[in-house]
Amino acid sequence: MSTKVNKIGVLTSGGDSPGMNAAIRAVVRTGIYYGLEVFGIMRGYSGIIEDDMFQMSSRSVANIIQRGGTILKTARCKEFYNEEGRKKAFANLQKQGIDGLVVIGGDGSFTGAYKLNKEFGIPCIGIPGTIDKDLYGTDFTLGFDTAANTAVAAIDKIRDTADSHDRLFIVEVMGRHAGYIAMHSGIATGAEHILMPEVNTTIDEIIAALSEQEKRRKLVNLVIVAEGYMPDPSNPKIKGANEVARLLEERLKGLEIRVTILGHIQRGGPPSCIDRLIASRMGYHAVESLLEGRHNVMVGILNNNMHYTPLEIAIREKQKMGEDWLEIVKILAS
Ligand code: ADP
Ligand code: F6P
Repeated sequence: MSTKVNKIGVLTSGGDSPGMNAAIRAVVRTGIYYGLEVFGIMRGYSGIIEDDMFQMSSRSVANIIQRGGTILKTARCKEFYNEEGRKKAFANLQKQGIDGLVVIGGDGSFTGAYKLNKEFGIPCIGIPGTIDKDLYGTDFTLGFDTAANTAVAAIDKIRDTADSHDRLFIVEVMGRHAGYIAMHSGIATGAEHILMPEVNTTIDEIIAALSEQEKRRKLVNLVIVAEGYMPDPSNPKIKGANEVARLLEERLKGLEIRVTILGHIQRGGPPSCIDRLIASRMGYHAVESLLEGRHNVMVGILNNNMHYTPLEIAIREKQKMGEDWLEIVKILAS
């Protein structure tokens, strides 16, 4: 397949995240600026398989930079996991004459893009779009900043009530496999404990810390739990804030605990300034990459510079949580 691209497709896939619209806008307008035809693909990979694509103009992305969600809609497409589904997808891309693809999503979406390229040669570029921030090769992912700020605003309110009562408040934030929202929002709200899938904190350790705090007459106790945190990793069915509360109540009789699960409010809302900015920058560079023949990479930002990670590495490697952060939580909440 020639590496020159003329007609590109853009899609959003996996969980939506604030900033996806700003990225679509940047891809469409940059593509048109460089003389490309740009097609919007509906509902992630489902739209390719169902041939649900349409030509976009600069006007079709007007007034969306400030909107959460994604105008192209998103989906988790089961058929795309099978080669048969991807064959159908490629046939439709060929029919439409689409010779390059920008995929906005997380590592699952990038795995799909990687396979599509391996099997059929179509050049793909990934833009990291996930509130989880768990992608290797970038300091930013679309939506993380907005989601973390949404969590902070909610936790600040809960802290007011926590401060008025001698109760333990447990707040669950999103992150099935990643604790970045928990860590950032926890530090930013002065939480006493932050529980994440990446760090093995036992219930015994939490209880020990709580009784230490009681001795010091520290009464406000705010615990932030990522939804994927497991008190006992050998028992993966037990996870999240409700389970933490149940286990603590069993052991600490008489302790009043209140649980708040923030849920999908973290995925919606207008993107923050940072999310709009990185979406615009990444969208622009995604198109430049396709034009320059820098294919099958994820466009990221590291130390304020653009950084291009081969899709297979972006999928395989995991971003590591800074070890100093847990120490910071311990010292600052004392
Ligand atoms: P995210 O992109 O946010 O990680 P998912 O893991 O749900 O979200 O992936 C989004 C979509 O990407 C899936 O519904 C599927 O269509 C495609 N995908 C994910 N993993 C694979 C895979 N191993 N092979 C092919 N396609 C995949
Ligand atoms: O990947 C983003 C995310 O919001 C995770 O934090 C969360 O675990 C998951 O998606 C929820 O997915 P769904 O909206 O499909 O329930």
